[in-house]
Amino acid sequence: MSGPDRQRALEQYRRRARGYDRLAPVTLRLRRRAVERLLLGQGQTVLDVACSTGLTFGLIEDQIGPDGHLIGIDLSPEMLSQARERVAANGWRNVTLIESAIEDASIPEVAGAAVFVLTHDVMRSPEALGNVLAHVRPGGRISAAGGKRAPAWALPANLYLRYAMRRYTTTMEGFDRPWRILEGLVPDLAVEQLLLGGAYVAWGTTARDGA
Ligand SMILES: C[S@@+](CC[C@H](N)C(=O)[O-])C[C@H]1O[C@@H](n2cnc3c(N)ncnc32)[C@H](O)[C@@H]1O
Repeated sequence: MSGPDRQRALEQYRRRARGYDRLAPVTLRLRRRAVERLLLGQGQTVLDVACSTGLTFGLIEDQIGPDGHLIGIDLSPEMLSQARERVAANGWRNVTLIESAIEDASIPEVAGAAVFVLTHDVMRSPEALGNVLAHVRPGGRISAAGGKRAPAWALPANLYLRYAMRRYTTTMEGFDRPWRILEGLVPDLAVEQLLLGGAYVAWGTTARDGA
């Protein structure tokens, strides 16, 4: 099975950007869980990886406050344009948005934490994960949440996931264990499965210097 395809992702989200926020209520539980696992504090810098329209921004802002710094990165200009509107509407002055593939992004700061929500393509890109992890301080927090293949007995869940994944990712490669590359980079990665095994949250701490 082939891996993520950035050009296809750009085209996908050019079409999907306007209706994307309709997903917000369905994905809130996962999003909340991923942010809780970061154990954020006031004043921290956080990377929201493949942030799209910024649906996770409010949850992060509540934790880091105005002295923190939220850096959102995404490939899609259409999704980022909605993120920009959300930032302006909420009056957040501490958000930097970067339009770039994660693999190539010039990340301006070393962060205390990074979150990946519903971004299977990025979770399957060693270059993207490497670039993010290089910009999180040793001992910083990482969390990731998204869909995964459910056990075979959960057939309706798997049918729905296949439909959703066709719309929102460019590869199903690694869908049985989306965190597999991340676990090679985050030594203490823990994983919780939710929704009959059709979703996961993974979290951990980046290696400390000398560890
Ligand atoms: C399902 S959306 C959701 C992401 C968002 N974190 C959320 O929770 O709503 C996936 C996003 O990943 C972005 N994306 C896919 N591949 C990417 C890459 N290599 N670099 C940056 N963004 C990417 C897409 O543009 C899209 O906005």
